[in-house]
Amino acid sequence: MSYEDVKTSGKPIPRGLQECIPDYRDIHDVPVPNYTEEEHGTWKLLLENQKVVLPNRACREFVDGLDQIPFPKEQIPRLADISDAIEAHTGWKLMRVDGLVPDKEFFHLLAERIFPSTDFIRERSELGYTPSPDMFHDLLGHVPLLIDKRFTAFFEKFGIAGVNAFKRGHAGTKMLPRIYWYTVEFGLIQNPAGLRIYGAGIVSSPNEVLYALSEQPKKHTFNIDTIAAKPYDIWHMQEELFVIPSFDELENEFERWAKKEGLL
Ligand SMILES: [Fe+2]
Repeated sequence: MSYEDVKTSGKPIPRGLQECIPDYRDIHDVPVPNYTEEEHGTWKLLLENQKVVLPNRACREFVDGLDQIPFPKEQIPRLADISDAIEAHTGWKLMRVDGLVPDKEFFHLLAERIFPSTDFIRERSELGYTPSPDMFHDLLGHVPLLIDKRFTAFFEKFGIAGVNAFKRGHAGTKMLPRIYWYTVEFGLIQNPAGLRIYGAGIVSSPNEVLYALSEQPKKHTFNIDTIAAKPYDIWHMQEELFVIPSFDELENEFERWAKKEGLL
C-alpha cells in the first residue's frame, strides 16, 4: 500500500497515553493510504445506500450526529478531518489502527476519550456486511454518536470500568465486551417516534438495518445483568436484541452496574 505524505501535527503525546498505548500516534501524523478509484467508489456506494435506509430507522441522536459530520459523498474521508470534527463537539479523537484492538488496549483508549478506527475499506463483494470491521463501519457506524455528549459520557465510563477490570483481574474483562456487543454494536432504542437503531454493527450494514427492525429478531427490554452474562455470535445475524429507553438510562444503568461490581 502506498501513502500520502505525513502531515505533522507537532503536538506532544501525553505521557499517560504513551504508557498505556505505546504505539499511539496523533492522527495528524499518520500517513493516509492512496486509495484506488474502486475503493473511493465503494465508500460512495455504501454511504448512498445507508442514507436511503437509515431515515426513520436510525435513532434521532444518530441522525443528528450524521448531519453534523462532514463525510464526503464521493471519496473516502481522511481520519484526521473526521477526528477534528468529533473533537470540536465532545473532545473525543480518533486513532488509526490496523484492525480489532485487544480489549485491554481498547478500554484504555476509551478511558482517554479516543476511538480506534481502521483506514481500509471492505471489498465490493462485502457491501452488505463484513464481519471484520472496516473504516465504513468505524466511521459511519460509530462516529455520529461520538458527538453526542450523553453517549460519550457513558462510553468514557465504560472505558474506565474496563481499565479497572483488567487492573483487578475482575470478571468484568469478560462481561464488558458482552455489554458492548448488545449496546454499542447491536443496540436498539425506544425513541418518542418509535423503535430505532443506534448500534454501529447495525447502522453500518444495509442487511442488518432491515433485519433488526423486522419481526425476526426477538426484542428484549434492556437489562444489564442479562447482557453481561450473555455470550454473542459475530458470524450470524443477531437473533436477540435489547432495547434501551434512552441514553441517560444506559449511562445510569451502566454506572449502577459498574459500581456494584466495584469497577467505578
Ligand atoms: Fe464497531
